Amino acid sequence: MLSSFDISIYLNRPEVADAGYLLAAVLFILGIKGMTHPRTAVRGNLLGAMGMLVAVLVTVVKLELMPIGLAGGAMAVGAAIGYVLAVRVQMTEMPQLVALFNGFGGAASLLVAGAEIAQRTSVDVKSVAEETQQLTPDFALLAAGAAGLIGAVTLTGSFIAAGKLQGIPLVDRKPPAGLQVISALLAAATVVLLVLLVLGYMWAFWALLGVAAVLGITLVQPIGGADMPVVISLLNSYSGLAAAAAGFLIDNNVLIIAGSLVGASGLILTNIMCKAMNRSLANVVFGKLEPSADGPSADEVYEGKIKATSPEEVAMLLDGVQRVAIVPGYGMAVAQCQHSVRELADELASRGVTVEYAIHPVAGRMPGHMNVLLAEADVPYDQLKTMEEMNPHFSQVDVVIVLGANDVVNPVANTDPTSPIAGMPILEVDKARTVVVIKRSLSPGFAGIPNPLFAADNCLMLFGDGKQAMVDLVAAVIES
Ligand code: TAP
Repeated sequence: MLSSFDISIYLNRPEVADAGYLLAAVLFILGIKGMTHPRTAVRGNLLGAMGMLVAVLVTVVKLELMPIGLAGGAMAVGAAIGYVLAVRVQMTEMPQLVALFNGFGGAASLLVAGAEIAQRTSVDVKSVAEETQQLTPDFALLAAGAAGLIGAVTLTGSFIAAGKLQGIPLVDRKPPAGLQVISALLAAATVVLLVLLVLGYMWAFWALLGVAAVLGITLVQPIGGADMPVVISLLNSYSGLAAAAAGFLIDNNVLIIAGSLVGASGLILTNIMCKAMNRSLANVVFGKLEPSADGPSADEVYEGKIKATSPEEVAMLLDGVQRVAIVPGYGMAVAQCQHSVRELADELASRGVTVEYAIHPVAGRMPGHMNVLLAEADVPYDQLKTMEEMNPHFSQVDVVIVLGANDVVNPVANTDPTSPIAGMPILEVDKARTVVVIKRSLSPGFAGIPNPLFAADNCLMLFGDGKQAMVDLVAAVIES
């Protein structure tokens, strides 16, 4: 029988650690693959988490960092905090939580780089490299600098992003003039400090951390709060790059693999979001989404053309229809009325009506926002249709119910090249026979511009909070 001493010797063999890392990498990749479909997303998430558990355990055993009991205790505390945060957070506050997690990721890489630099400062650089037979000193210092620089930008940038989304007054305010010039100067300073570090000036690392931390603040602060989801996705990618750099620094393959996966997937997601808004990344980071001064005013668009309706009238409209499409938007997330939406869909389906959900890629405020909310209400996945799937069919839809969506159904995107959403692909709901828009008022959406759809001949406005309006509508349909 093997003693615990034998087991520990066995586990410490390099090939066992490599096999563990390989298993972790495979689990990460299977996890990401699982995320590509709502049906497999939960399993994908679990596989990714299992991969991380394997990677952490192998590292703790391999490096003999600390007693297993202590490591297990630390992981249990971390898992408990993560569990409570994830369970308690509101869906509308999820981007803030993701931002905080990104920030902690950046901080972890920064700490790894800091520990390595502190060690190298106390011991002769060359002898450490020779002794550990790792990277050449220059490359190691470049990796340390990259991990520290990107980690610090990610840390402070993510906290500013989370603060802006949360509406914390200290950060969610008009940026002081000239902040972007300051960012450019700070960015130039980080390059100089990185070069000095690579040349062997260790003090440059600590200066680099300070400058990069300020850079994270000045870069993110001027960006509009509503663009934060794109910024968070970008910072997520940065946190991966910082981790990959830390992996090169400490010669840890699984950190390089996991960091590269996060870096690449964050960039792909950022790109998808920019494309779906028809905006470049530079426009999101350095530009501003502002209503054009030449555009028509709300009065010009709406005056005398708005037809308000009631739940009872909409219920009559829905009587005897064959095909209904529901277009959810940010307002559904605010009102948290996805369960009532499902009730309405079930009631209509029980009468033989075909019900589909048309999901715009940037509806709401984060990628997959609507899909997650509807999945929470157990809406069958096959009823969720993408913009590309639905657009050719709107002309055959009897009634479209637009629930708390605005920009993603604004026809101005196709007709006014000066509008801030010009060229953004939209759900062409105006082609349906009748459109019912549920929202509280004629207030604009994220882009801040009026929506001529609301004044269209085939459009009825059901004014009210999404939740109350849906509850009333379900009751009216059941009664009718
Ligand atoms: P928006 O255009 O922002 O419109 C949301 C509408 O919901 C508002 O006009 C608001 O009107 C209504 N609303 C708010 N609270 C409500 C409530 N309790 N009940 C009923 N209605 C309510 O939303 P959208 O159509 O989903 O478009 C998303 C926008 O966000 C796009 O411009 C997109 O580019 C941008 N964006 C999205 C993302 C991602 S990844 N999804 C990232 C960055 C930016 P009232 O105040 O009159 O009720």
